[in-house]
Amino acid sequence: MATALVTGASSGIGLEMATTLGQEGVELFVVARTRGPLEELAARFEKVTIIEADLGTAEGRAEVAAAASKVDILINNAGFGEHGAFASMPTGRVTQMIEVNCVALTELASAALPAMLERGSGSILNIASTAAFQAGPTMAVYGATKAYVLSLTEAIAEEVRGSGVSVTAFCPGAFASGFQDAAHIGESRLVKDRKLPSSTQIAAEALAAMRRKDVVAVPGLMNKINAVSVRFTPRPVLRRVAHYVLGAA
Ligand SMILES: NC(=O)c1ccc[n+]([C@@H]2O[C@H](COP(=O)([O-])OP(=O)(O)OC[C@H]3O[C@@H](n4cnc5c(N)ncnc54)[C@H](OP(=O)(O)O)[C@@H]3O)[C@@H](O)[C@H]2O)c1
Repeated sequence: MATALVTGASSGIGLEMATTLGQEGVELFVVARTRGPLEELAARFEKVTIIEADLGTAEGRAEVAAAASKVDILINNAGFGEHGAFASMPTGRVTQMIEVNCVALTELASAALPAMLERGSGSILNIASTAAFQAGPTMAVYGATKAYVLSLTEAIAEEVRGSGVSVTAFCPGAFASGFQDAAHIGESRLVKDRKLPSSTQIAAEALAAMRRKDVVAVPGLMNKINAVSVRFTPRPVLRRVAHYVLGAA
């Protein structure tokens, strides 16, 4: 029986990916701070281990890393954003974002990869974002954390090329989940009055990208065009467009 560890399995695409893997008979290790949805997964599927942990703390990360070192599939999905001017953002919130989006993802990949390489098989799926491709004024730290995820993933993927282990950065644009409320981004042009793709749809695309062993995957035509066009657009233009899009509608 294959094993998978999914962080952020209590909501959004993490919950959807865990559900799909559970339906496929994969043994699950599900991680989040909110226990209720994890218990529902445990009630639905035969082999589920709940790890109620805060990935913003060293103790929480250590507990999850111990489990990550044994799985076939590691899905580094937990993450959150915060909308607003950098100068007005509480330092603690900024630090927490880096701890969850970057430090936890890195420590768990570091814990999982050696055993995967030894076995000559395994998959790491890191959830980045289209925010990784350009600076994000009013979501400065979030964008920077996702640029980190993309860069780290590409580098590791190249290091392990040919080993049988795949490392994927999945870079979705905005989709419907708990993210918008957590990031206080509901009034921005990015999401206001837009029909966003569902978490179910995006989770399916994320798992498909992992199974194709893509190194970088961007779902959706407009997102793909955006990801390519940033390479040819002057950076000052990119910054201003991103600022406009992330601003209030
Ligand atoms: N939705 C979007 O528009 C969008 C676009 C691009 C990329 N993404 C990325 O997609 C990933 C999944 O987010 P989502 O959209 O599905 O959002 P979501 O519904 O808010 O889910 C986020 C998950 O992360 C977990 N999490 C947050 N902080 C945590 C912490 N300190 N410790 C442990 N778990 C924590 C949450 O669990 P608890 O709160 O229960 O701990 C929850 O399960 C994130 O990495 C996000 O950056 C989202």
